[in-house]
Amino acid sequence: MVIRVPKVFQFDGTTALGQEGISALEAGYPVRIAQKLPCLLSESLRNRVSTWPSKGFGTKNPSWVIQENQLKPARLAQTSDAEEFLAFLRQFLKVASSTVGTILGLDGHHLCSDRVTWRPYELATTSRRWNARDDLFHLDSFPSRPAEGRRILRLFYNASSSDSVVWSHTFNLDNYVVKYLSDWCFSTSSKRPDTFGDNLMAQIHDQMKRHEDFQETVPRVLHTFAPGEAWVALTDTCLHSYLRGEWLMDVSWFVSAPWLTQSYWAPKASFDRLVNGKSQAESGLKQAA
Ligand SMILES: [Fe+2]
Repeated sequence: MVIRVPKVFQFDGTTALGQEGISALEAGYPVRIAQKLPCLLSESLRNRVSTWPSKGFGTKNPSWVIQENQLKPARLAQTSDAEEFLAFLRQFLKVASSTVGTILGLDGHHLCSDRVTWRPYELATTSRRWNARDDLFHLDSFPSRPAEGRRILRLFYNASSSDSVVWSHTFNLDNYVVKYLSDWCFSTSSKRPDTFGDNLMAQIHDQMKRHEDFQETVPRVLHTFAPGEAWVALTDTCLHSYLRGEWLMDVSWFVSAPWLTQSYWAPKASFDRLVNGKSQAESGLKQAA
């Protein structure tokens, strides 16, 4: 099977994306926003953040959990710079929300803000446990925050003042499902019914990172983003990896707009096609027997 890898879609970010761009985003293209976003991080705060232990207090990326209005990890919230840092994240969320609202023409009630994440570590040299390694191709799935049928949208931003971020994507989730999952047995050990496929997404996330053949042979499209550049992707279907860079920021949203949740490329639609295909094949086998 030959799978065509989508190119990146360029876009200036000042008007709605238009049908061609929307279709590209839906099908797994990242969309690069040519117009740089304003750098909201003051030099003074940048200098102080640079002196934080390992720049983040622990091994997890610092983040603002928007719905709970909490800075994590908790030790970060206790620092003297926490309030100023949080104000910076709030401002960033405002700019990011306005940008994706313009691009996608989405009403606010279709966008549920999830987190603003700050990745202050050099991506190329930070050690992580295998299923937290972002340099491997993966989809985004948050086991502690089920999407429940909503799509995951992310805006990434290179907040560095001097270094580029190198980021990569490959073909989309639907291609992965067709090529690698047709014979895969899913675990059904979860106590809750997996109505929206969240449990399945978490399993595929791990299965994909462990899949050596996929990780070694899959076509890779490399992107370099200069300081100030931003890009967006539906990261539940855009298979991506972070390769190098520091000061990468991102905002994640759950999107409930029906044209995205019911899209041909939505994860649930891909799983349904896989299951239906399997049951058709099984009934064909039974008839043949
Ligand atoms: Fe990711």
